[in-house]
Amino acid sequence: MQDGVDGADRVRLKRANGDSVDFEVISGTEGASAFNIGTLLAESGLVTLDIGFANTASCASNITYIDGDAGIVRYRGYPVNQLAEHATFCDVVHLLTTGELPTQDQLASLNAGMAEGTELARTLQPVFSAMPSNTHPMAMLSAGVSALSGVSSDAFDAFDDSAAELATARLIGAFSILAALTYKASSGGSLPRSTPSTSSYAGDFLGNLFGSPGDGYESDPVIERALDVAFILHADHEQNCSTSTVRLAGSARASLLSSVVAGISALSGPLHGGANQAVVEMLEDIKSGGGDVARFVGSVKDRQSGTRLMGFGHRVYKSYDPRAAIIKKLLDQVLLQLGKKDDLLDIAIELESVALSDEYFISRKLYPNVDFYTGLLYRAIGFPANMFTVLFAVGRLPGWIAHWRECVTDKQNKIGRPRQLYVGPTERTYQPQ
Ligand code: ACO
Repeated sequence: MQDGVDGADRVRLKRANGDSVDFEVISGTEGASAFNIGTLLAESGLVTLDIGFANTASCASNITYIDGDAGIVRYRGYPVNQLAEHATFCDVVHLLTTGELPTQDQLASLNAGMAEGTELARTLQPVFSAMPSNTHPMAMLSAGVSALSGVSSDAFDAFDDSAAELATARLIGAFSILAALTYKASSGGSLPRSTPSTSSYAGDFLGNLFGSPGDGYESDPVIERALDVAFILHADHEQNCSTSTVRLAGSARASLLSSVVAGISALSGPLHGGANQAVVEMLEDIKSGGGDVARFVGSVKDRQSGTRLMGFGHRVYKSYDPRAAIIKKLLDQVLLQLGKKDDLLDIAIELESVALSDEYFISRKLYPNVDFYTGLLYRAIGFPANMFTVLFAVGRLPGWIAHWRECVTDKQNKIGRPRQLYVGPTERTYQPQ
């Protein structure tokens, strides 16, 4: 089958036998246009095969725009670096989930809804103490969100803006407490009484994790801001694995909470959100093996070893991930503020430098992604490695909510149901073994 553009707004797929099918080309506001192959099977008996959806748009979306070659990420049109400089995480929550930056009144409503959500989540503490203590915090988080559906009414009308905004605010507030409870489950201690604040979601979050009832814990403003910015940088990233999972669940009309649970599970994988934990574990392995970066890079290049340079490579970025550069700066600021030095950072910097000048990585356009330095940032702040992906989930939640709502309110949307190319046995007759 050959393809060719027939006019500006049609694509023609032409088979060797002369049959052809025309498709409409649909343009977005920026980036690649698409041609809609929805009628291909009916018209030609063929399906497309696109492993890992490397070239398939599953939806039209107006939330986040990425140009991976130019290193651009924009939420609702705003460059992420401008948001990282000027906005708070709660501004970004409102922006992503409603389309616009918030007014003061809207922030006050968000704050009130978050406070309701924190109260609901606090009632779930027994769920966390009932789980085996070595349960991974990501597994605890998904259990916590599932349990949240039992104490909150998540069956709201997604077409109703005020109901959706209230459900969003409650979930954003509840999530902070659920994440803190995953930490308390292994570190021990109880949650302090705190009131969420839209001016520093991260400050409140740090207090819930590291504070105890009555101890008057106060976080350092530099650390607080660094974490708030890290949350902003993780808040959305268009059709990544976890967000597409949330949309797929939502396309079956699964509730917001059930869809978020699906997203948490997808995010936990080391090729996705779990990479921040895997990067630090990789750096620790290199350190304990004597710090020989060149030898480690050699093992990555040995295709038989199956070793990957974690925190490197990205489906979309074929140049430096712009978020990684901002995270690296935040890490430097936090280490300076705390007067700390981290041997693992020296190894990471050497690893980056060796990889970026090596033909293996250059030819495959493998650069540091957002997770190369986030684990070190979280470690400097004092989070244990098994909490790193929970922090990613806290940041990514507004993106999941925005995409879930976009999916379920899009009247053009259908249940997600890919085709397959069957390569198994043809019919055989049952015979007892
Ligand atoms: N280390 C070594 N080689 C790599 C790496 C890596 N980190 N990433 C990709 N490659 C190689 C592949 O082996 C492949 O080589 P080949 O063409 O010789 O077979 C080539 O680069 C293309 O790689 P793919 O796996 O096809 O790229 P894909 O887009 O499918 O994967 C992914 C992207 C999963 C992020 C991959 O780069 C990876 O595994 N990175 C490490 C894990 C990681 O950091 N994940 C976080 C991503 S960011 C996020 O989700 C928040």
